[in-house]
Amino acid sequence: MTSARCDRSLHQTLLKWYAANRRSFPWRGISDPYRIWVSEVMLQQTQVARVAAYYLRFLAKFPTVASLAEAPLDHVLAEWQGLGYYRRAQHLHAAAQSLIANYGGELPQDFPSLLALPGFGPYTAGAVASIAFAVSVPAVDGAVGRVIARLSGTTARRNTSAFTRTIARQAEALVPRHGAGEWNQALMDLAASVCRPTEPLCDKCPLTADCSAYRSGRAHTLPVLGLRLSPKTVRLAAAHLQRGTSIVLGQRPLKGLFGGLWELPTWTIDGTVRATLLAKLGKSARVGERLGIASRTLTHRRLKTEVFRVELLSALPRKLPGYETHRFFTPAKLRALPMSSASRAALAVASTSPLKAPM
Ligand code: ADE
Repeated sequence: MTSARCDRSLHQTLLKWYAANRRSFPWRGISDPYRIWVSEVMLQQTQVARVAAYYLRFLAKFPTVASLAEAPLDHVLAEWQGLGYYRRAQHLHAAAQSLIANYGGELPQDFPSLLALPGFGPYTAGAVASIAFAVSVPAVDGAVGRVIARLSGTTARRNTSAFTRTIARQAEALVPRHGAGEWNQALMDLAASVCRPTEPLCDKCPLTADCSAYRSGRAHTLPVLGLRLSPKTVRLAAAHLQRGTSIVLGQRPLKGLFGGLWELPTWTIDGTVRATLLAKLGKSARVGERLGIASRTLTHRRLKTEVFRVELLSALPRKLPGYETHRFFTPAKLRALPMSSASRAALAVASTSPLKAPM
């Protein structure tokens, strides 16, 4: 890679490739900053194919910043179901409210003001500023980081601050003064279809002449992997409490993992499962048989949730420890609630158990 804010030929080469190979998405070729912002938030931790299925439905429900800001958070979370990482939906909602309160419902056009909004990190602020407002800033996600690492040949390990700093500096040097939105999206498309993580298609790449990894035969081995700690296993006990056809679900506090989402009342096992459930539900709880076990791996944790049938001989406690609130739901109501896929899995093992609680 050459030094580059003014590396015209590198820009022209990639933009020419992009003109011929750009992918077509509903968030391309539009100018509404709100719609661009929503797409960038959805695309951060979710595959493009999945986003494409949710994006237009979400916008049909919340077509403007104002409609999103006015909606109850529960409705926004429910629309987000299936996209995962629900914190993004909370931030989107909070940022929409901040836009109404502070910017007349419009997104600010400069990078520092965008960066100060809830949920905006350097990537989102860079993507929105460059694509919606033509500001000359980079937008470096993991995929673009990979392309830049190969171009420059950096040997810093991914997931280290040295890597992040090096790539940020190089991305800054590369971004063109004009057309940064196209440039950033061209890098994204190159990363997705040519400069792929494990099998880069260097024979299809327009940038090999400028690529340090290619020239030194290291395209397959760069960037150097970060050291990955294996996720820690957390054992959880979930209570399946049924009355008629309804079951109890708790809503998690807004702050923290799975904030605002609903689930079978679940706690980290402390001692035995029975002791844990009795401590949380009170002495009148009768802990029955295990209905099943659900496993889900998150980025840093592997959750193993054991689901137990529970009966209460007296009323439920007014407040379940660790939950904002709790309620009985019929199966039909339950389907529309915002839940994480880990919680849906726990619910599914209970409802498909041969020991399933009587309806
Ligand atoms: N990934 C993140 N943002 C994107 C965009 N605008 N186009 C394609 N892929 C993306």
